[in-house]
Formats: sequence, structure tokens, C-alpha cells
Amino acid sequence: MNTQPLDQLSDSSTAFLRPYLPPSAPSDRLFVTLTYAASLDSRIAVGHGQRTYLSGPESKCMTHYLRAHHDGILVGVNTLLADNPSLNCRYPVAGKSYVEASPRPIIIDPTFRCKIGASSNMMMAAANKIGKEPWILVSSQWLQSVSPTDLGHIQFLEGMGARVIPITGLQSDDRNASWAAILESLKRLGLRSLMVEGGAQVINDLLLTTANDVNRTKISPVDVVIVTIAPVYLGKNGVEVSPTTAIDSLYDITWERFGRDIVMASFNNKSRLDP
Ligand SMILES: NC(=O)c1ccc[n+]([C@@H]2O[C@H](COP(=O)([O-])OP(=O)(O)OC[C@H]3O[C@@H](n4cnc5c(N)ncnc54)[C@H](OP(=O)(O)O)[C@@H]3O)[C@@H](O)[C@H]2O)c1
Repeated sequence: MNTQPLDQLSDSSTAFLRPYLPPSAPSDRLFVTLTYAASLDSRIAVGHGQRTYLSGPESKCMTHYLRAHHDGILVGVNTLLADNPSLNCRYPVAGKSYVEASPRPIIIDPTFRCKIGASSNMMMAAANKIGKEPWILVSSQWLQSVSPTDLGHIQFLEGMGARVIPITGLQSDDRNASWAAILESLKRLGLRSLMVEGGAQVINDLLLTTANDVNRTKISPVDVVIVTIAPVYLGKNGVEVSPTTAIDSLYDITWERFGRDIVMASFNNKSRLDP
């Protein structure tokens, strides 16, 4: 587990990111930022289950800066198992400890496949007060017939401060329904901003997810998309970000160099998505 603090971003980098940060004014809606690092051939890992370092030091620093501005950071269970991430924030924030600056790690894990122990980076970060304890979202349906072994593991993680949260509808075949259940639950739990970091299934699904707004118009729950592009190819066996249908909903797009990488930041135009 890396415990080294990161450098500060340059003034031009923070100015580039500022318009895309969650609003600081209190709001009753959940602001969602989708962010990941991809290769030139739109791969986010060299193969399934293989942790792949794509971001250079400058764009990695940007990711931690973004983490400091969000209440929660969400990944799918495959990412937790493949990468053993800490999901904390090591960006120095004036007046805040690392645990205060860190977002809440949130793992989507319908059938509780994440049998992590106390030595996983995420649990160690929490134990060492440089990150928060995770929330693990499981399916309510699965929890009804949980095995004694799984229940024991849940109790073990909860004993260390994690929360295992049942979500009705998480195992639905309808991804719109499962994302609606996830985001609604997180809002009810008090989150106002969520950074979604991957992996590919989460990103590909969420980009195509729609929900009804107050006028019953179909909108995307994603407010902002921030993508780091690293100057490497990961090849055909890589884990690919490519939704099943075309999307042309990004607007107010800006590009900025971070060391050897380039970062695109944009808003997501909800109203232009197909119904
Ligand atoms: N470069 C980057 O920025 C970056 C960032 C993150 C991850 N990654 C890479 O991405 C790879 C993992 O991606 P992945 O596509 O295999 O997996 P993933 O997206 O991390 O996790 C997918 C799993 O999460 C659960 N899940 C996700 N969305 C759900 C929903 N709406 N409802 C219910 N369950 C949901 C499902 O678990 P069940 O199958 O148990 O139902 C699903 O199989 C790793 O290799 C990792 O290194 C790269």
C-alpha cells in the first residue's frame, strides 16, 4: 500500500478541472462523475484480472485531486479483485486529514464475491486512517439465503468498520433498474457526489443507462466524464471500454496535457440521449 503524499497540481491543471467539479452548494441530487484511464485503443487493462498502470504521475495526481472532491468512489467487484486498490485520497488538502479528504469506497458486489481480508489495501488504508471503510452493495435477494460462511465473512468485515448494504433490484437483468437502485440508495445514504472509476462493465453500462427525470424525460445519471488517455496500446486482449451503441452526448469538452497523458473533461448532455 502506497502511503506517500502526492504533489500538488499546477494552477493551470486545477483551473482546467474546476468547472467540472461537483457543486459545493448543498443539493438533494447525486452528482455523478465517470472517470477512467484508457490506452490509445480504448483498453483500461491489458487483460481480465490484470492490474495495469496507465496513468503517469501527473494524471494519477489528478485522479486523487478528483477523489478529494467527491463523497464516494465506486467500482465493480472485478476491479476490487483484480487491482486490490486502496480507493483513498493521497492528495494534500489544507485543513483535512487523509481520512477526511478520502471518498467513501463503494463496491458493487451482488453476490459478495469480495472475500477480502484485513491485509487488502482498502481495509489497510481504513485501519491506518488514510482512507474510509468501504460500503459493499449486495443484492437483497442474495442476502436472504446467505451461507453461514459468507455471513461470517460479512460479520468479519463489519467488525472492521465496513458496511454490507442490501440493495433491492441489484441482480436485475435490467441495468437501468439496477443503476437506479444503486444511485437512489447512495443518495438516501447521504452521498451528494459520486466518482465512478470502473471497470469496463460498470463504465460501458453506466454510459448507456437512463433514468426518468422529474418531467419523466429519459436522462443519463452521469453529469461529467473525465478520461485520461495514455500513449500506449494494450492490444486486442485488453479490457475494452466501448458501449454497445454509439453515444454523442458530451459537450463543453476541454483537453489538457498531464505529463505524457492527455485528459478530456466534458459535461454529459442528458437530453440528447435516445429515449
Ligand atoms: N484504467 C482504469 O481506469 C481502470 C479503472 C478501474 C478498473 N480497471 C480495470 O477493469 C477491469 C475490471 O473490469 P470488469 O469489466 O471486468 O469488471 P467491473 O466493472 O470492475 O465489475 C463488474 C462486476 O460488478 C458487478 N456489477 C457491475 N455493475 C453492476 C450493476 N449495475 N448491477 C449489479 N452488479 C453490477 C457485477 O458483479 P457480478 O458478476 O458478481 O454480478 C459485474 O460482473 C480490471 O482489469 C481493472 O484493472 C481499469
